[in-house]
Amino acid sequence: MKALLLCGGEGTRLRPFTHTQPKVLLPLAHQPILFHILDSLATTTIREVVIIIGPNGKPIVELLRKTNPWGFVFTFVDQPTPLGLAHTVLLAREALGNTPFLMYLGDNILDEPLRPLVNRFVREKPDALLLLRRVKNPRHFGVAQIDGKNVVHVEEKPVKPQSNLALVGVYLFSPAIHQAVRVISPSARGELEITDAIQQLITEGKDVNYHLFSGWWKDTGTVTDLLATNQYLLKKLTSAVDGEVKKSTVKGVLKVAQGSTLKNCRVKGPVTIGAGCRISGSTLGPYLAVGDGTEIVDCNLSHTLVFADAHLKGVTLTGSIIGERVRINGQQKMAAAHSLLVGADAILEL
Ligand code: TTP
Repeated sequence: MKALLLCGGEGTRLRPFTHTQPKVLLPLAHQPILFHILDSLATTTIREVVIIIGPNGKPIVELLRKTNPWGFVFTFVDQPTPLGLAHTVLLAREALGNTPFLMYLGDNILDEPLRPLVNRFVREKPDALLLLRRVKNPRHFGVAQIDGKNVVHVEEKPVKPQSNLALVGVYLFSPAIHQAVRVISPSARGELEITDAIQQLITEGKDVNYHLFSGWWKDTGTVTDLLATNQYLLKKLTSAVDGEVKKSTVKGVLKVAQGSTLKNCRVKGPVTIGAGCRISGSTLGPYLAVGDGTEIVDCNLSHTLVFADAHLKGVTLTGSIIGERVRINGQQKMAAAHSLLVGADAILEL
């Protein structure tokens, strides 16, 4: 089997951060979202990964050309305009050949092992195996109706959902999907919907099965979901201090990468600090992820993502995302916490 990993799209809901980086490269728990997904794919028998790249996707290609600890064979397919999930299958036709494949939306993080799923698909050979999860608000998702082991109907963001079973962003397909994506038409929002292609398979009497899971799942499309996913990933970390921690108190899990120094800090884990950071006089955590080369002085940071090379002084932040190379200069010991979303290279005097 191959994988089709969708990293196109514009990520408009995550601006300003997606102005300077593709969504899948935004770091969560000190690792690009894409790497969390590739870690998960690496547990399966899949070794060839076809990656859909949008107009701002060049950094993805550059990064994967120099970093590939998983030993995957990558093929990159350009998608100049995000015309829908089924459109990516059309574009990847040649790269996928006649091999069955696992399609993974590049912004989804889920707590479900992929290996058993892939093994089941290879063993049972249905035309599609969909991952389903019960949700409270099915109107926001592709929704499936099931009967026994089969999916009997799917619909994209229905006004009147017939079930609370949402399609999670992981799908396994036989080559039959290639014919289905060719016969569907764009939806009202102008996209070729993968749900329409799946419905086409069902209409043709193909075998569409499902796997229902109840574990953790988020698509990291919005700031709230991004921070929630960061929190979830941080909870899974274990302590590892490769840098220096001096005159500080540490409770909970703390990860400090090489060349970083923490001095006179109070840490409430889980907290992860990248490489080459200088941090002093600050209260850190819980749920803080700090990128490489960052300087933090006299701050109080919780539930926050700080990207690489930021410089923060005298600020209290919670529920914040601070872009690369941002400089914030605040009044020391400010009483009220700020919730800031600051894009790359901004300079703030508070
Ligand atoms: P979406 O979250 O639906 O779209 P988006 O990433 O462009 O974000 P926004 O709505 O904020 O503008 O896409 C889900 C995933 O699928 C995401 O990783 C991007 C990818 N994708 C493609 O690769 N090509 C496409 O045509 C579409 C629609 C999405």
